[in-house]
Order: sequence, then C-alpha cells, then structure tokens
Amino acid sequence: MSTATETPFDLLGGRDTMQAIVDRFYDLMDSDPAYAELRAMHAPDLTKMRRSLAGFLTAWAGGPRDWFEENPGKCMMSAHDPFAISPAIAGQWAEAMRRAIADVAPANAALAAQMGEILAKMAQGMAR
Ligand code: HEM
Repeated sequence: MSTATETPFDLLGGRDTMQAIVDRFYDLMDSDPAYAELRAMHAPDLTKMRRSLAGFLTAWAGGPRDWFEENPGKCMMSAHDPFAISPAIAGQWAEAMRRAIADVAPANAALAAQMGEILAKMAQGMAR
C-alpha cells in the first residue's frame, strides 16, 4: 500500500526499474533504424550513458540524489546546448523513451505513462 511519503521513484519500483527503462531505451536506440540520427549523436560506447541517465532519472523521480552530488550544478537543459537537437531528433528520443517505459511495464502503469509524457515534453523543450 502506498503512503504519503512514497515518491514516484518508490512507486515505480526503485533503481532496478529506472535502470531497466534506461537499458531498454539504449537497446532500442542502438537497434531500431528509426532512431539512427539520435544514435549517431552519441558516443559508440553507451556504458557511461546507461549509468548516467539511470542515475539522473533516479534522482529526478525522488530517489537517492547521487547523480546531482556527482554533477554539482549541472543543468540538464544547458548540458544539451552543444548538441544540435531538431524537433525530429527530440521526437526520436521521446518515442524511444515512451516505448522503453511501456516495455518495462512498471506495476504502476498510469504513473509510468505520466513519466513518459513529462520526459517527452522535456525532450521537446531541448529542440530548436
Ligand atoms: C531531446 C533529445 C535528446 C538528445 C538528442 C540527447 C542527446 C544527448 C547526447 C548526444 C548526450 C552525450 C552522450 C554521449 O556522451 O555519448 C547526452 C547526454 C545526456 N543526456 Fe541527453 N539527449 C536528449 C534528451 C535528454 C533528456 C530529456 C534527458 C533527461 C531526462 C537526457 C539526459 C541526459 C543525461 C543524464 C546525459 C549525460 C550527462 C552527463 O553525464 O554528463 N537527455 N544526451
């Protein structure tokens, strides 16, 4: 049963769920030609990203804040300024993330879908 103090992080299944979503996201990005442009922007080795994005989502959803302690003062929006993110590429990110969340299927499906919607908006906000 949920309590008032449970965060989205807890309700979605904690760090294992965040890591599973991120792993599925990068597996999709790596294998589906629909995300080729997005893939090409990233380093060949995604090991660091698998760790960093899972850590960011963990903290962002209300879990342990290690990512922010390891990256003091880092703003996710300005960290993406160096990349030329078109609306189409942001759409690739958003779609792959929504698919990853649906494939991992956290028990709290409504909350998981909401997380996908918010992340999709964040991705669109990075486009120019
Ligand atoms: C809008 C579409 C997006 C594109 C095209 C994009 C692209 C990238 C690229 C190319 C990198 C560097 C990767 C590398 O070194 O291989 C990166 C880093 C990162 N991105 Fe994104 N990104 C997008 C959206 C997002 C969103 C919405 C989030 C957060 C919810 C996010 C979280 C991160 C994180 C945590 C890092 C690593 C930062 C670090 O550890 O320094 N990205 N992104």
